[in-house]
Amino acid sequence: PIEQREYLVNGEMRPWARKTQDVWSPIYVQTENGLEQKRIGSYPITEPSDAMEVLESAVKAYDFGRGEWPSMSVSKRIEAVEKFTQKMITKRDEVVKLLMWEIGKSLGDSQKEFDRTVQYIYDTIGALKDIDRTSSRFMIEEGIIGQVRRSPLGVVLCMGPFNYPLNETFTTLIPALIMGNVVCFKPPKHGTLLHYPLLEAFRTSFPAGVINTVYGRGNSVIPQMMESGKIDVLTLIGSSKVADQLKKLHPKVNRLRAILGLDAKNAAIVTQSADLELAVKECMLGSLSFNGQRCTALKIMWVHKSLVDQFNARMAEEIGKLKLGLMWDKGVNITPLPEPNKPAYLKELIDDAKTHGASVINENGGETVKSFVYPALLYPVTKEMKIWHEEQFGPVVPVVPFSNIQQPIDYLLESSHGQQVSIFGKDISQITKLMDVAVNQVSRVNINSQCQRGPDSFPFTGRKDSAEGTLSVTAALRSFSIRTVVATKD
Ligand code: G3H
Repeated sequence: PIEQREYLVNGEMRPWARKTQDVWSPIYVQTENGLEQKRIGSYPITEPSDAMEVLESAVKAYDFGRGEWPSMSVSKRIEAVEKFTQKMITKRDEVVKLLMWEIGKSLGDSQKEFDRTVQYIYDTIGALKDIDRTSSRFMIEEGIIGQVRRSPLGVVLCMGPFNYPLNETFTTLIPALIMGNVVCFKPPKHGTLLHYPLLEAFRTSFPAGVINTVYGRGNSVIPQMMESGKIDVLTLIGSSKVADQLKKLHPKVNRLRAILGLDAKNAAIVTQSADLELAVKECMLGSLSFNGQRCTALKIMWVHKSLVDQFNARMAEEIGKLKLGLMWDKGVNITPLPEPNKPAYLKELIDDAKTHGASVINENGGETVKSFVYPALLYPVTKEMKIWHEEQFGPVVPVVPFSNIQQPIDYLLESSHGQQVSIFGKDISQITKLMDVAVNQVSRVNINSQCQRGPDSFPFTGRKDSAEGTLSVTAALRSFSIRTVVATKD
């Protein structure tokens, strides 16, 4: 077990002897008392007064933009991030192991998450060098010579999600840092310990106070930090409800910059002309990779009536081939879910759908053993069911049959979510019409492929309740900075 007893504040690993939080893996192990969840360590719970000290350390390091870090040249900041990354790479095995134990991600996916993060940092450095080159150019217009620079915004409060605790956290934290901002960082409840091996690398790569950590339940420390008005940028990958509550706490909510990745309910629309095998392959990946715990996951499948029986049969067959096991098992697909309440929530969704006339149409669908939930294919799903509206964020695949293309279009128009959609079909004219409607409802339309965030150079955002601000290598650098013009008369 890892018993973390320090937090990072003002360039120090501050010892902690007060309240701590035990961390339980989603894995159960046999003990003399029967099957018990495996305890893998603990971390310090930040008290509200300490959270304010953490915040003050960041405020001091920023010092109204006069601090060492915000005033440092871009090339020096890049050097610091490179130094950090080199140290981070030496911690790969430890972090990957913790990703598996803490959030139940398979070995292959945990390695991918780590490597994708490192690549993201290098891509960010490359993009910043490009921006910096452009910024050094002068413009001459109407007798005025101007230069446009990108300046930092201030103190960033950064909170990542449990499903990509390293990668998605770093897609905000790294661009925020490299643009000269200072950061207070709260790792997700499931996915805290895996950051511990990186703290020393943070501490030794950046000036004191540039990166600081808080831990524990967000609702006990974050409100106070927001109410202080000293946070300039809120970044949260999580629920829109939490984001709304937090934003309201800030005294200058209109001035607070928010970069948020929020709820999503991405639809697949499998039209009459779809290549069935391709649609099944992509819908399997889209709905069940990492047990459906991706914001970009396909969470509702609209399938044309002429194909729906075949689609369901093939999906059930493919689900039957998935391998259930532990994270390090070769070829594993179904792993334990880290959120303790999730199995019960998924059961509630399935039971509710059954009450309203749907069935689980695959063998063992929805069966739960401790933290494992076997994927459930639900059919036919209708508007009366909770699963139509709620984001399951788990291995439940609802299928809705349609006879008229206007039905999935109405779904997109009425939905409060607007992240992505996947359209399957070969009839170019119909697909184009559908695409034209969809582009004004979501922020990415995938043709004959699943929904996903990558490549990381593509803008990642959403409409309606799904996002605020844009992430991607270059967009994130813009999101965490402001254009500043330096001008003089010719
Ligand atoms: O959970 C939300 C992530 O942004 C999904 O990323 O599409 O690369 O799995 P992904």
